[in-house]
Amino acid sequence: MQAVFGTMVFGDLIERYPYFVRTSEFLEKSSFFFKKTLQRIRILHPNYEWAEKTCRDAFELCGRDWQAYLGNAYKLVDFSVEFLRLQALLEKTGRYYCANFREVEEKVYNNKDRTLRGAPYMWALYFSQVFWETHHRVFKFFLSDFVSTKQEQGHALEVPLGTGIFVTHFLLGNRLWKGVGVDLGDTAIDFTKSLLALNNIGPTRMTVLKEDLYRYKSDFGYERIMCGEFLEHVEDPLAALKKLHSLLNPKGKVFVTVAVWASMIDHIFLYKSAEEVRAHIRAADFTIEKELVQNVFESGRPEQKKTPINYCAILSK
Ligand SMILES: C[S@@+](CC[C@H](N)C(=O)[O-])C[C@H]1O[C@@H](n2cnc3c(N)ncnc32)[C@H](O)[C@@H]1O
Repeated sequence: MQAVFGTMVFGDLIERYPYFVRTSEFLEKSSFFFKKTLQRIRILHPNYEWAEKTCRDAFELCGRDWQAYLGNAYKLVDFSVEFLRLQALLEKTGRYYCANFREVEEKVYNNKDRTLRGAPYMWALYFSQVFWETHHRVFKFFLSDFVSTKQEQGHALEVPLGTGIFVTHFLLGNRLWKGVGVDLGDTAIDFTKSLLALNNIGPTRMTVLKEDLYRYKSDFGYERIMCGEFLEHVEDPLAALKKLHSLLNPKGKVFVTVAVWASMIDHIFLYKSAEEVRAHIRAADFTIEKELVQNVFESGRPEQKKTPINYCAILSK
């Protein structure tokens, strides 16, 4: 069987990666935002095995119900359209929709009229990892440069968890390591627990805590910390970076991703350039070991100010 997309023939792609290809097709048909998704992802030399596993895991988490699965994948369409709308507002006003955490709680987390919160929001985040090109590249970078440790045993922390996809794959790649996950939100905790259980990572290997990062204490320093898309969600990102520094073992490494000038409904701290993120990283006494800095729109450039950027780096002390 052959899958044909436009003028391109994808050979046996659909046979080898059916969940990934079928989800791509669904997204392509669902929205202009995902037009030619498969062609676009293919150009980045994707990690097909991981993309397929991520979709297959989602299918399992949806009780092997294809309609429920597609309904959850569609949350990414809603999320993406909302991003475009809020981004237009940011370009006009120069501000994010929410200015502080209290506003986020009121307008997003506790807003009963909002459908894209709780589990639907987690599903959007989860699928973005594969089907947003910037997020896909980030995960490839994470797998190649962060998951492959030379250390046989150690302790890894993910904060905040969100879907828990980073720590799950870290522990799958490092079978003798133990993990801890911290997040304030109940849905993040529940989603992570389901993903871990599906991957046979039990409580003896991974502890999941409902806790505020600023209050979290540990008796030991972590050898690896994953902190995805957090600094833009808080009022004081420098304090969060300093906290991560205090939780890291002297020889440890941190994997961090940060949204710059990219408007989501729950973003608070407005970084206007990658250089502003680097300034905070250095002020928290970290060294930048390696970076992946991507412009979200084709018209932008990674070092431009006031254009959406996905900043990602590996840090050490
Ligand atoms: C956009 S998600 C990021 C999740 C994930 N790390 C990723 O890269 O997809 C932001 C998460 O931060 C959590 N959060 C917000 N403030 C927090 C805090 N002070 N301590 C711990 N978690 C927090 C929220 O509950 C939410 O799950």
